[in-house]
Amino acid sequence: MADTYRKVVIHRLTGEFRTATSIVETARVAPGPGEVLVRNRYAGVNAIFDQNLCRNTIRYVDVVPPYDMGVEAIGEVVEVGARVEGFSVGDAVTNVKLGAGYREYQVADAGKLIRVREPTPEILALMASGISAMVALERIADMKHGETIAVSAAAGGLGHFVVQLAKRAGNHVIALTGSDHKADLLRELGADRVVNYRSESLREVLEREYPRGIDIAYDSVGGEIFDAFLDHLAKYGRLIVSGHTSDFDKPIEDVPHPRAYHKLYWKSASIRAFQNPAFPQYFDDAAHRILDLYYRGEVRALVDPTPFVGLEAAADAVEYLLAGRNAGKVVLRL
Ligand SMILES: NC(=O)c1ccc[n+]([C@@H]2O[C@H](COP(=O)([O-])OP(=O)(O)OC[C@H]3O[C@@H](n4cnc5c(N)ncnc54)[C@H](OP(=O)(O)O)[C@@H]3O)[C@@H](O)[C@H]2O)c1
Repeated sequence: MADTYRKVVIHRLTGEFRTATSIVETARVAPGPGEVLVRNRYAGVNAIFDQNLCRNTIRYVDVVPPYDMGVEAIGEVVEVGARVEGFSVGDAVTNVKLGAGYREYQVADAGKLIRVREPTPEILALMASGISAMVALERIADMKHGETIAVSAAAGGLGHFVVQLAKRAGNHVIALTGSDHKADLLRELGADRVVNYRSESLREVLEREYPRGIDIAYDSVGGEIFDAFLDHLAKYGRLIVSGHTSDFDKPIEDVPHPRAYHKLYWKSASIRAFQNPAFPQYFDDAAHRILDLYYRGEVRALVDPTPFVGLEAAADAVEYLLAGRNAGKVVLRL
């Protein structure tokens, strides 16, 4: 094992991943008590979060360069520190931690690692986006069965888990996408009604086919999709704000709408926001249950097939996702 390894850091807050980051060499340090050294094999690409870090616009983080990048990783234990129980060299492990992802090695707190069967990109996708989907649907959206659930960016890293978990719970799922190829994938995953918003109007579909309204609208795109969801909630409907991909890097738009309470009050409907770092108390339970579903073949983890290999490819991966080209989770192979 070499004495140094490489990682991606923000060196300048340019607002754009490619120009804000660089790859630096750093010394490999031995794990301390309670820690293990992990050789990262795959890192999850969270392009919007990454881009926001490069603009220092994540509200719970203050980015002072040099700042380590990447969040979730999966790999193998290569060295075990003192007083670590339950981990050995060669174990496949995964974790979600700011700065842990876009690097070849990481020293990790053993107490925060999850042991998995093998270090695959599919398991990595489950551990970040799959857990978020499960926690958001069950704990924030209060998902029941027999409901109508609409999902935007449904073929994305997070969205494809929302589709499957909503379907498994016995709900009718409306899945939104911007491409016919992703529409086919969504039908394979069990979506009941797929809407390609480039060829159909979401508003018209909801008015014509869902006059009772939707019980849960799971939105991570924002803009006009959010507006259409808000206008079509059913009685007791819940609109989950899980991101706003369409305008995260634009100035906040003033929109001439009636105030939200006029749309919510008479239906006893609600808008609820979900940011996964706010709900760590639910992660362990969700991690074990979603892994179990995956190992039993009851949930699929889609990884986008475009290969991004090595830290040099991180900027390409971020731009690919920002262009909306991905189907499934985008990962970086290390
Ligand atoms: N709440 C949380 O804790 C949490 C956790 C993880 C991620 N997120 C957020 O969830 C969202 C999805 O993240 P992800 O990493 O899983 O990404 P993703 O959904 O895999 O990729 C983004 C998808 O959004 C769709 N899209 C719609 N309008 C777009 C636009 N104007 N530009 C680009 N893409 C557009 C595209 O799919 P179509 O072409 O099919 O529409 C694209 O594939 C992001 O906003 C992210 O910040 C939130």
